[in-house]
Amino acid sequence: EEITFPLLLSVGTAVIGSLQFGYNTGVINAPQKVIEGFINDTWRDRYETPITKNSLTAIWSLSVSIFSVGGILGSFSVGLFVNTLGRKNSMLMANILAFAASALMGFSKMASSWEMLIIGRFVVGLYSGLSTGFVPMYVGEVSPTSLRGALGTLHQLGIVLGILIAQVFGLESIMGNDTLWPLLLGFIFIPAVIQCVLLPLCPESPRFLLINKNEENKAKSVLKKLRGNRDVSADMQEMKEESRQMMREKKVTIKELIMSPLYRQPLIVAIILQLSQQLSGINAVFYYSTRIFEKAGVEQPVYATIGAGVVNTAFTVVSLFIVERAGRRSLHLTGLLGMAGSAILMTIALALLEKVKWMSYLSIVAIFGFVAFFEIGPGPIPWFIVAELFSQGPRPSAIAVAGLSNWTANFIVGMGFQYVEEACGAYVFVIFTVLLLLFFVFTYFKVPETKGRTFDEITAGFRRTASTGGEKHSPEELNSLGADSQL
Ligand code: GLC
Repeated sequence: EEITFPLLLSVGTAVIGSLQFGYNTGVINAPQKVIEGFINDTWRDRYETPITKNSLTAIWSLSVSIFSVGGILGSFSVGLFVNTLGRKNSMLMANILAFAASALMGFSKMASSWEMLIIGRFVVGLYSGLSTGFVPMYVGEVSPTSLRGALGTLHQLGIVLGILIAQVFGLESIMGNDTLWPLLLGFIFIPAVIQCVLLPLCPESPRFLLINKNEENKAKSVLKKLRGNRDVSADMQEMKEESRQMMREKKVTIKELIMSPLYRQPLIVAIILQLSQQLSGINAVFYYSTRIFEKAGVEQPVYATIGAGVVNTAFTVVSLFIVERAGRRSLHLTGLLGMAGSAILMTIALALLEKVKWMSYLSIVAIFGFVAFFEIGPGPIPWFIVAELFSQGPRPSAIAVAGLSNWTANFIVGMGFQYVEEACGAYVFVIFTVLLLLFFVFTYFKVPETKGRTFDEITAGFRRTASTGGEKHSPEELNSLGADSQL
């Protein structure tokens, strides 16, 4: 299958939203001290006393974590927009939030208001939550079946590049200093402008046009553009099949999605995969790596953090190239197991640090390994597999529920890690090891391979499981249920 220019433009423009999400995930780490200085100065000017340590910690933690609260709300609201405005206009509209957040954060210093900083973080969280729904949905819907995994991984590539750019920009010598930090946070208006210029040149999702809007001719011409003028009758046929299926299902609300036995199996798979991504502990690394490296005795922790960002990006690219060959299931399994191994290494490194000097090097190897294995599977796959597990009817609701699970777990790790670390010391990564192994077992038994199968084939597989209650049935029975033979 060929990657045409319109396809590349569409996917490339959409993942600017992923870049924004990653940037705002990583940006708050490095300039902590300078922004705390600003909060302190503002407080003193206003109340004529220095701020207490407790108030400062509270304001800081709130500025960091309110981003995920915005993410939780944003990701859960995806369904409100995509079916009415369409996929493309939803992405376009979300940029209002990016501009507002940029202004709030960028002018907070000038206005001597840390409140603006907090509200700005919340608003950009809303934007990011929406993006984690919009982008994988749109990319999944415009991609041909054989490239859906590779192009879906570009969402994660956008995220990791965003994190890396934020880590580099956040260096004191670049923008992570007293004068330039407002620019560091306000910088997001530049990608927002670029996305607003490019989106009008991208097509609407052909699935949305055909299945939701019933505009067959438009859908066909968009599809022709995306596929480079080749014969698209097979794709049209498949979408019509999905459409017929949807007529029978109608639009599926979040409540119906949760209640219906038909969707139970794929919904559980989608939710647990999101949890496996976040409860793997990856953001303990991305929010606190500098601190972790410091504790592990690494001399230049900031550079080790950037090293982790580079490894993170490199292995996302690796995953991009192998996901259509190796498949989702095996890569996810490999990633989880490798992360568990790395977490054990990390525990050994932290536990023996006092006695063995070179353990600080082992900790770097362990963290880099942890991050590398994450990007092989648990990083990219959960984001795009949800769009694959559901047909057009329940897809928006499913993406909302999955996004909610992901962001909530993200919030819990972000808030909880420091406390758990204080309680468990060197053994904090043992918790992640246990969770990773549990997720491995779940994936091994419950997650089907989706590589190379059309949306319709995948959902037919689940329909079969739902109607047979997991029991084995004769081939005749399976045929009559419209199931395919691959599952
Ligand atoms: C995934 C996670 C995100 C994490 C990132 C790290 O996209 O969803 O929370 O920060 O990977 O690369």
